[in-house]
Amino acid sequence: MKYLTIALAKGRLAEISMDLFLKIGLDCSEMKEKTRKLIFADEKNKIKFILVKAADVPTYVEYGAADIGIVGKDTLLQEGRNLYEMIDLGFGQCRMCVCGPLAMKDKLDSINDLRVASKFTNVARSYFFNEKGRTVEIITLQGSVELAPLVGLSEVIVDIVETGKTLRENGLDVLETICDISARFVVNRVSMKMERERILDIVQKLKGVLAEGGVEN
Ligand code: PRP
Repeated sequence: MKYLTIALAKGRLAEISMDLFLKIGLDCSEMKEKTRKLIFADEKNKIKFILVKAADVPTYVEYGAADIGIVGKDTLLQEGRNLYEMIDLGFGQCRMCVCGPLAMKDKLDSINDLRVASKFTNVARSYFFNEKGRTVEIITLQGSVELAPLVGLSEVIVDIVETGKTLRENGLDVLETICDISARFVVNRVSMKMERERILDIVQKLKGVLAEGGVEN
């Protein structure tokens, strides 16, 4: 039997995913130990887990280097890869929002040269183009995006908001909500044909665990 490879987004999503896999009898306990290893095997079930940067999960899955991936909808929207999105896992919940100083709320649609800073550049561009019929200047940042309006790099940002704490502590607000975000179970299109039974078995079991309340978020 061939190994099925599952790509997990390093960090909190991977932690929660591991608990979920343990509940359906897939052993990824080795990943829980403090280690710098990036690849782990459950020999009994012929599963390999790989730990990758969130933004790279869709890439590994689209190319078939991983059969399955668990990654946030934010990353899927930004990366725009050709994958099967099979389950909304319900954890990692947050919102993709346009944020800025509250004073920008009424001006957002009237400012001509609106600058939008974001890690989610494709999401930001398509939101303003498709929902508002306008092009805006997109400024790419890698993190701490909330800084941009504070130092005059942009008027607003497009970013994920979970508790709202980062915004509050920096004097910013949600101006508009773009969409809800949560972790998704995605599958490579060829793997879905070649390994259909094994993948559907995992999907069914995961759905069972989720129906019973899932894992702690
Ligand atoms: C994310 C996001 C916000 C923050 C939102 O940043 O970009 O900055 O979390 O969470 P909150 O609403 O609960 O405050 P992350 O921690 O991923 O770091 P980053 O600045 O590198 O993007």
